[in-house]
Amino acid sequence: ESQNLKVIGQGKLYGKVEISGAKNSALVLLAASLLTNEKIILENVPRLTDIDKMENILENLGVNLVFKKNKLEIDSKNISIKELPNELVNGLRASFFCIGPLLTKFGEAKVPLPGGCNIGSRPIDEHINGLKALGAEILIEEGIVKAKIKGNKNKLNGTNIKLKCPSVGATETLIMAASLAEGRTTIENAAREPEIQDLCQMLNKMGAKIYDSGKEKIIIDGVNNLGGCTHKVIPDRIEAGTFLIAAAATSSSIKISPVIPNHLEAVTSKLKESGSKITIKGNSITIKGKEIKGVDIETAPFPGFPTDLQAPFTALMTIANGESKITETIFENRMSHISLLNKMGAKIKLNKNVAYIKGVKAIKGMDLVGSDLRSSAALIIAGIIAKGNSKFYGLEHLDRGYENFELKLKILGISIKREFNKKTFTEKKYKLEAESEDIQKFRVA
Ligand code: EPZ
Repeated sequence: ESQNLKVIGQGKLYGKVEISGAKNSALVLLAASLLTNEKIILENVPRLTDIDKMENILENLGVNLVFKKNKLEIDSKNISIKELPNELVNGLRASFFCIGPLLTKFGEAKVPLPGGCNIGSRPIDEHINGLKALGAEILIEEGIVKAKIKGNKNKLNGTNIKLKCPSVGATETLIMAASLAEGRTTIENAAREPEIQDLCQMLNKMGAKIYDSGKEKIIIDGVNNLGGCTHKVIPDRIEAGTFLIAAAATSSSIKISPVIPNHLEAVTSKLKESGSKITIKGNSITIKGKEIKGVDIETAPFPGFPTDLQAPFTALMTIANGESKITETIFENRMSHISLLNKMGAKIKLNKNVAYIKGVKAIKGMDLVGSDLRSSAALIIAGIIAKGNSKFYGLEHLDRGYENFELKLKILGISIKREFNKKTFTEKKYKLEAESEDIQKFRVA
């Protein structure tokens, strides 16, 4: 409440926007650095509060991290404890990614049960069942997951695992655990997201033997130890998709880069179907938003339409010509943005996880609050489309997952500014400094 974003409606986007490194890759790569005693250098790491929290967690384990702008040097040779403190884990579900590396490298791990969040209960049964199949003994007491290798052996045993659902996190946990296990592990019905492929690329640079990442059956041959490496985080396909949707929603023409186009296939084809003109050249995508036709989407595991872009796409459909149907199949509670969009004048009927939208001519600006990372981005897009001004609260969600989001929108020509009241000015000082420095950079580009 002490800060908000003031957005002037009916904005247009012009020019070029630089896409940051992928949050959901950087987080798991940070956890993977626990698998070696040698130095890991991660490049293109986005400066986000989720990343800060993961850094905190690793520092708590004795890891030494040095951040230089978007480059992170990680040194895990002095890991002392194998237990993650509660308060740090509650702040970041992704900290659960540490259980696989700690268990397989040190034979034991104690990680607090990650809570659910406002998009769903976020169970971890697939992680637990897979680790047990690899030879772990798992006890859950007072909200702490206590894992150790059965029979006091010092290595997990490779085995064949078949996931019930292609869970991104479970696939990542089990790949990391299997990388130092004895023998071969296969993971069937594995998640195929680009962030998993990025993890496997880095692990293979460290000396792991992982085959077929990105396919539905991944093979991991355990090795004795993993070395250091330098790795550049892939561009954030969700941030990229968010800007493409914002351009389509304002009938603007912008260029986004760097991107890996085939990470966005499902999104660009839906935007084309809805009437935008998309051209791909190397690692950049140019979109020319024109009229917006209503199109149906159904979220699915990669390479399907990503659940993380469902809310932003819903915002786009509120002003489409005609009807659209949005089906969320991944998380049970990821439609919280619908009620606010309706208050802005959208016509959306929600039945469980299916939204039926009748496009309207215009929606109107108002005070808005985001409840999770991606609904926040969706509501800001709605504010940019709307007639009149909007004030957006709930910025802590936004800062978790979008690096310099309002700065990038401002550079693209959107009238958006962060308003503080006195007491928080100092907290965010670094942000303002970064802003001035980055503005110069962007203006020069
Ligand atoms: C990752 O979460 C991402 N987070 C999420 O991004 C993303 O929305 C999600 O994958 C789906 O793509 C990170 O990578 C840090 P899942 P994750 O395990 O791994 C069920 C964002 O906004 N499931 O693939 O937790 C689960 O209930 C965040 O950046 C089980 O049943 O997602 C859900 O319905 C939000 N048992 C479905 O699978 C399990 O053990 C997908 O979850 C694990 C998951």
